[in-house]
Amino acid sequence: SQLEKGGYPHFMLKEIFEQPSTLKDCIRGRVAEKGRRIIISGVMDNAEKFLNAKRVVIVACGTSWHAGLLGKYLIQDMCRIPVEVEYASEFRYSNPVLDERDIVIAISQSGETADTLAAINIAKSMGAFVYGISNVVGSSIPRETDSGTYIHVGPEIGVASTKAFTGQVMVLTLLAAAIAQLKGTKSPEEIEEIGKTVNKIPSYVEKVLKLNDKIERLSLIYTYARNFLYLGRGYSYPVALEGALKLKEISYIHAEGYPAAEMKHGPIALIDAEMPSVIIAPNDHLYEKIVNNVQQVKARGGSIIAIVTEGDTVIRNIADHVLEVPEVPECLSPIITSIPLQLLSYYIAINKGKDVDMPRNLAKSVTVE
Ligand code: G6P
Repeated sequence: SQLEKGGYPHFMLKEIFEQPSTLKDCIRGRVAEKGRRIIISGVMDNAEKFLNAKRVVIVACGTSWHAGLLGKYLIQDMCRIPVEVEYASEFRYSNPVLDERDIVIAISQSGETADTLAAINIAKSMGAFVYGISNVVGSSIPRETDSGTYIHVGPEIGVASTKAFTGQVMVLTLLAAAIAQLKGTKSPEEIEEIGKTVNKIPSYVEKVLKLNDKIERLSLIYTYARNFLYLGRGYSYPVALEGALKLKEISYIHAEGYPAAEMKHGPIALIDAEMPSVIIAPNDHLYEKIVNNVQQVKARGGSIIAIVTEGDTVIRNIADHVLEVPEVPECLSPIITSIPLQLLSYYIAINKGKDVDMPRNLAKSVTVE
C-alpha cells in the first residue's frame, strides 16, 4: 500500500499532488485549435437539447454538490440559461417540477450515490434530459443517464474528495464553454481566452502546490482552533463551502462556509481572536467588495488567512497570512483557489493525529439512503 501511495504518506496528499496530471487527463482532447474550440461530445451529440433548454437543474451530494454550485455560476454566466442546484436527497422528495425542456445534470465522483441515482430516476420519469458527470467509468450513474462526460482523474481513494472536485469543476467549465460556443452566448475571443487558460491550468496548479511548505508551517498556528469561518463571494463562495467541508471531514474542527456579504446577518457575531477566518479573495469583479469583508473581520479582532492573487497589496496589509495564487480569469479561479484549502485541512488534520484517508463516520461512496 506504501507503493500505491507513490511515496506519499497518505492517499489524500498523493491525490492533491496528482492534480496537475489529473487535470491534464481531464482536459485531453477537449480543447482544440490552440484553445479556439471546446469539444464536449455530449453537448455536440445533443445540440438540440442544449439549444432549446429552458432550465438546468443540477443534483448532487457532498463535494459534488459544491462543484454543482460552481456549475450554476458557470452555466448562467456563459450560457444565459437559468440554473438551480439541489441536494439530491432533497430533490427526490420535493415533488419537483420538470419537463422535456429541462436538463438535469447529475454530478457524482463514484457514480453510485443512492440519493443521486434516485434523483436521476425521477428526472427521467418526468421526461427531462439527464446528463451525468462522473469519474468511475461504467458505474451506475453513467449507465442510467442519457449522456454525459467523465472527469477522467483516475481512482480517488481518500474519503475527502480533492482531485475529483477539481476535475468536476474543470468539466463543468468546459461544458459551459461548449454550450456557450453552440449558442453563441460567448464570442469566439472569449471562448479562446477560456480555452487557452484551460490549457495552462495544469502548470498553474503545479505552481500553487509550491505553497505546500508554507501551508504546512501555517497549519501549526491553527491546529487548536475550535471553529473556523470560510468566506468568499461569487465564484469563491462555493470554494469557501468546499474548504470548510474539507476541514470538518478530516480534522473534526467545526467550520462554516458562508457568502462573505451574508456574514453581517449572523456569523459576524461569532468573530473574535479565537475564531480564524479563511477568506478567498482573488482579483475578480468582487475584489473591492471582499476587501470590505476582510476589514470587517479584522475590526472585530479575527485572525485572517487570505487566498489572494499574486502581487496583491491591499489584503496583504490587513490579513495575518496571505497565500498567493496565479491570476486566471475568474471562471477558472475556483480550481486554483481550492488547492491551498485542501492542503490546509490536510496538515491541520495531520497535526491533530487524525486518519485523513479514513475519517470516522464517513464513507467514500454512500450507496444506501
Ligand atoms: C461521500 C463522500 C464525499 C462525496 C459524497 C458524494 O460523502 O465522502 O467525498 O463528495 O459522498 O459522492 P459522489 O460519489 O456522488 O460524488
